[in-house]
Amino acid sequence: MVNLKRRTLLGVAGAAACVGLGATFLSRRERHQDAPIVLRFSHVAAANTPKGRAAQYLSDEVARASRGEVRIDVFPNSTLYKDGEELEALQLGTVDMIAPSLSKLASIGLNGFAAFDLPFLFSGYESLHEITDGPIGRKMLDQFEHAGLAGKAFWDNGFKNMSATRPLIEVKDFSQLRMRIQPSKIIDLQMRLLGASTEDIALADLRDALAKGLVQGCENPPSNFLTQNLGAVQQYMTLSRHGYLGNLLLVNNEFWSQLPRYIRTLLDECIDAATRYTNSIARTENDQALAMIESTGTTRVLDLSARQRSDWQKTLEPVYQQITDSTSLALVATARRRS
Ligand code: LMR
Repeated sequence: MVNLKRRTLLGVAGAAACVGLGATFLSRRERHQDAPIVLRFSHVAAANTPKGRAAQYLSDEVARASRGEVRIDVFPNSTLYKDGEELEALQLGTVDMIAPSLSKLASIGLNGFAAFDLPFLFSGYESLHEITDGPIGRKMLDQFEHAGLAGKAFWDNGFKNMSATRPLIEVKDFSQLRMRIQPSKIIDLQMRLLGASTEDIALADLRDALAKGLVQGCENPPSNFLTQNLGAVQQYMTLSRHGYLGNLLLVNNEFWSQLPRYIRTLLDECIDAATRYTNSIARTENDQALAMIESTGTTRVLDLSARQRSDWQKTLEPVYQQITDSTSLALVATARRRS
């Protein structure tokens, strides 16, 4: 299925210079300077979100480091594949890189990632990074082989807020609402415990679904809320920051393993740089997006009192009973130590 014969592997050797392999490959580069290796990176978020910026940063970094001999073409905003399609496309090798949200990984049997969807688990990015940058995160990245994929990095987006066509302050405000969810059992149960019903809808179709009244509410970090123009169809947002939305950079393993070792090294170094970059801008990007939503004024931004927040938390506590595997339990214990 995935065959490097469909790409040109010749001409990549100049990449070695930037990873310190230098002269060995420069002579090869002189011999094969025609077509670059092209990787296609498909994702569903807008270009001006943490994920969109990271993908573009990675593309720029790879072009610079390989001196143009490896190219990453980025297709943002579901222009190639939507949620629900992109994982399969990566497994089939019709794209080479994706960065789906962690909430979508259960669809390929990786249920452990659902622990990241638990409500009110992380006190902030620091407690999250203790997991994603530590042994638990490493172990989770190493779980993709059975699916023909390789996990490369955790890329932050941010903390989600609830929004709807009516104010969501007390738990009872969720009653009779239909909320858009990602395909996650934890998120589904979270919404149902709050009293809402759910509908799994791709991000690309969300605004339309809200406009048509198919669903009345959703949960998003400010960056996605703003860039998907949800303010036009969501009159109220509650600063609940109840859940985390993060992404996992994935490659097709067969394609990856056919790349020459020095290209893989170069790509890994560029991925590390892009990961540091996106995880350093995610908070500011979301703060700026929230400020923009507030200043636009079409969505009223509301906060919860300590009592209201505590009511939400108590109502949602039963979701934690869904977590039974040892890695997820360790994840929860680590996060809770910090909160
Ligand atoms: C969503 O569907 O809400 C998220 O997965 C979007 C994203 O940023 O990937």
